[in-house]
Amino acid sequence: MLDHLTIVKHPLVQHKLTLMREVETSTAVFRQLLREISQLLAYEVTRELDMTTKRIETPMQPMDAPVLDGKKLALISILRAGNGLLDGVLELIPSARVGFVGLYRDEQTLQPVQYYFKVPDALEDRLVIAVDPMLATGNSSVAAIDLLKQAGAKNIRFLCLLAAPEGVARMKEAHPDVPIVTASLDEKLNEHGYIVPGLGDAGDRMFGTK
Ligand code: URA
Repeated sequence: MLDHLTIVKHPLVQHKLTLMREVETSTAVFRQLLREISQLLAYEVTRELDMTTKRIETPMQPMDAPVLDGKKLALISILRAGNGLLDGVLELIPSARVGFVGLYRDEQTLQPVQYYFKVPDALEDRLVIAVDPMLATGNSSVAAIDLLKQAGAKNIRFLCLLAAPEGVARMKEAHPDVPIVTASLDEKLNEHGYIVPGLGDAGDRMFGTK
């Protein structure tokens, strides 16, 4: 069982994250770093998967060799910034099934509203990894996990690049069964709900929008 919060302290992850935080880093470099770091984070979030063995022949002799057990896992991108993490994770797990959850914030109620939801079948039989680079207030992450659970998901992990203590606490309260893997637990949220020191708006930085 993974801990509720895993901070990946690997030197390569931390070095790449520092480059991504820098305000001068270009969109192209940011995107490339995100792809690289997401593969390293994918390695951590896929720890402790169920394994079985398969009878194979090496050039030397037969053996019972370890392989992943069960149905293909499901990667769920929380739009739109989740797509930046998704690409790298998919390179490491190319046979994963992929889903998308789209949420926007209602400016009156400040609550997340669903505008898109398309996920693989049989979620209840799969490990489901939800990806979103920034765990800030936790509102959209909690709402996305709510939707995944309503769709049947029982075994969910959450992968992000940066987390704020407020978002981690909100997730722990709403979904204590969902382990979080991140590259950093930053200091706090500012008055606009951005993570500080953070890296700014992850979607804008990866897609070159403002
Ligand atoms: N979303 C972002 O892209 N950045 C933050 O700092 C918080 C939420």
